Amino acid sequence: ASTLGAAAAQSGRYFGTAIASGRLGDSAYTTIAGREFNMVTPENEMKIDATEPQQGQFNFSGGDQVYNWAVQHGMRVRGHTLAWHSQQPGWMQSLSGSALRQAMINHINGVMAHYKGKLAYWDVVNEAFADGGSGGRRDSNLQRTGNDWIEVAFRTARAADPNVKLCYNDYNIENWSAAKTQGVYNMVKDFKSRGVPIDCVGFQSHFNSGSPYTSNFRTTLQSFAALGVDVAITELDVQGASATTYANVTNDCLAVSRCVGMTVWGVRDSDSWRSGDTPLLFDGNGNKKSAYTSVLNAL
Ligand code: XIL
Repeated sequence: ASTLGAAAAQSGRYFGTAIASGRLGDSAYTTIAGREFNMVTPENEMKIDATEPQQGQFNFSGGDQVYNWAVQHGMRVRGHTLAWHSQQPGWMQSLSGSALRQAMINHINGVMAHYKGKLAYWDVVNEAFADGGSGGRRDSNLQRTGNDWIEVAFRTARAADPNVKLCYNDYNIENWSAAKTQGVYNMVKDFKSRGVPIDCVGFQSHFNSGSPYTSNFRTTLQSFAALGVDVAITELDVQGASATTYANVTNDCLAVSRCVGMTVWGVRDSDSWRSGDTPLLFDGNGNKKSAYTSVLNAL
């Protein structure tokens, strides 16, 4: 195969990218994205601040732009994200307790109703665990509404759209030895044992010198998959774009039958949220980097 999407499809997987609505007018960008990928994650357009800027007033203009572009190019879409401590609109940041809990539920219902039946996956909850050695939850306004907020989010999401796959998504959970990884693993294990609806776990995979790729990532993917969830690499970028690291990550996904696909967090280095790290598969001029060839050959 000669594109990432077609190469991934040979094993029944997808290869996706984050798409920013503001770049859809850039033909160099859309040419590469339209050719190479078969899954799209809106980079910011389906986040809480974008979709419910005022409480109870939903806005799907940016999300629909990205969704429509993807569908017109034959691609599927991962929704991102319904409940998160970050990129909350001001009104939500100032809520707490039962008012915030109800606002979270209303938000999930409002956004999922609009996209019902249209998306392949939803990142229902994003980044709910703490960094460091505790293995526990991140402190946030949502966490302070009660430890059950994550399962309430998942149960609400299942009822809102029973046909979309519901994912938990986080960063720095790739290293099997990390306390954060074990914390998320134990939550998923508990959810599966109690029948809390969860279908998948997304590993953001933002690799850099502070949180490097480790070869036990494959063990992590296998261990989560063994709990009965799909796994995916959801926001991949690698500081410096080491071709070896990109190949290792690709081979780790291919080694796990429940690893359903990989998504890179942007098209060209110049599109990256960490553009200074030149972490992606295409350079700022749209040329394929060695990491691109390395991934394509591994797939
Ligand atoms: C980032 C976007 O790429 C930026 O444009 C935005 O300013 C901040 O968020 N984890 C996530 C993504 O789940 O939503 C984040 O995306 C990167 C880290």
